[in-house]
Amino acid sequence: MIMHHVQLDNYNTFGIKSRARKLFTFDQTEELQEYIRSNDKSPGSVVVLGGGSNVLFTDELRTTVLHPANRTITVEEETPTEVTVRAGAGVVWDELVNFALDHGYHGIENLSMIPGHCGAAPIQNIGAYGTELCEVFEKLQAVDLNTGNTVIFTSPECEFGYRNSVFKTRARGQYCITDIYLKLSKLPRFNLEYGALQATLDEMGVATPDLWDVSKAVRHIRSSKLPDPGKTGNAGSFFKNPVIEKTFYESLQKRWPDMPCYKISETHVKVPAGWLIDKAGWKGFRYGKAGVHDKQALVLINLGDTTGKEVLELARKIREDIYQHYGIELQAEVNIWDRHGRHIEL
Ligand code: EPU
Repeated sequence: MIMHHVQLDNYNTFGIKSRARKLFTFDQTEELQEYIRSNDKSPGSVVVLGGGSNVLFTDELRTTVLHPANRTITVEEETPTEVTVRAGAGVVWDELVNFALDHGYHGIENLSMIPGHCGAAPIQNIGAYGTELCEVFEKLQAVDLNTGNTVIFTSPECEFGYRNSVFKTRARGQYCITDIYLKLSKLPRFNLEYGALQATLDEMGVATPDLWDVSKAVRHIRSSKLPDPGKTGNAGSFFKNPVIEKTFYESLQKRWPDMPCYKISETHVKVPAGWLIDKAGWKGFRYGKAGVHDKQALVLINLGDTTGKEVLELARKIREDIYQHYGIELQAEVNIWDRHGRHIEL
């Protein structure tokens, strides 16, 4: 279905008022293939938008927005211990989590309540509470936006990293993901390493948790820290947690002894950007109608009628200040779009 001059307010969790010149919503992969083969294929002529939970529009979109709407979930293969579940790109991620919980499939319960659609999940290798999508990911099917052909990407071919994949680097803007395939476990297998998760289960009085308990604990932690996009527009973490050299971290620690870090390798550590921004005094800061969330400084929020440009200005001010403070360069985790849906660096 093609619609013209579409308001995008309900297509982005930031609630930014923008419009798309053309919006093509499709259910079947063949519809997309036909569209690609019979329309303008020049670079920047189309852009893919899923649930809009990790995007900031800074302008009206003068390009065609492709919006996958396939909401089918199927079990493709099953052994006594494992299943391969296939989800259409238009499936709401949390619906897939609930499907897994309902059927007793383990592996994505820690990723409960992450906003967005399944098609976008591999792009930034969604992660939370000690689990990343890549741990259960088998493969995906995508349509090449230049040829209209379908392509399979296995897990190694996706080149997953921390909030990263080939779809944010070499292949950015070149494919539309249509289906994802996850390998989930039928046997109990939990990851409770994230401190607050175990602590919440203890508070709940749960000694031997099941899938629903873990999901409930995750939902509880998320609700206490992260703003509900249904009430306050946001796109989750606006920045990535920066990875820095261990020796640099040790020098910073002399001045900020309580600066947290997570070991990445023998030579590098990851530092929580939320802590850096918080300690630099930005928590609860307001900039016009944009702001910094008062419970998690990593999240920028829409306080009313903010614009993408205003949020971007705020993000740049924070980035500059963090660099002045600590000598660390923040990178955006959110995809920041110009009028052609091309990513703008911070
Ligand atoms: N912290 C502060 N002040 C803040 C925020 C955090 O001091 O305002 C400190 C916390 O006390 C803690 C540390 O920073 O010591 C880390 O905070 P938290 O555990 O809340 O996680 P995060 O590193 O800020 C990441 C992900 C989140 C994910 C959580 C939990 C990124 C960019 N963000 O946040 O993902 O939910 O871990 O696993 O990696 C998202 O991607 O949109 C997202 C919300």
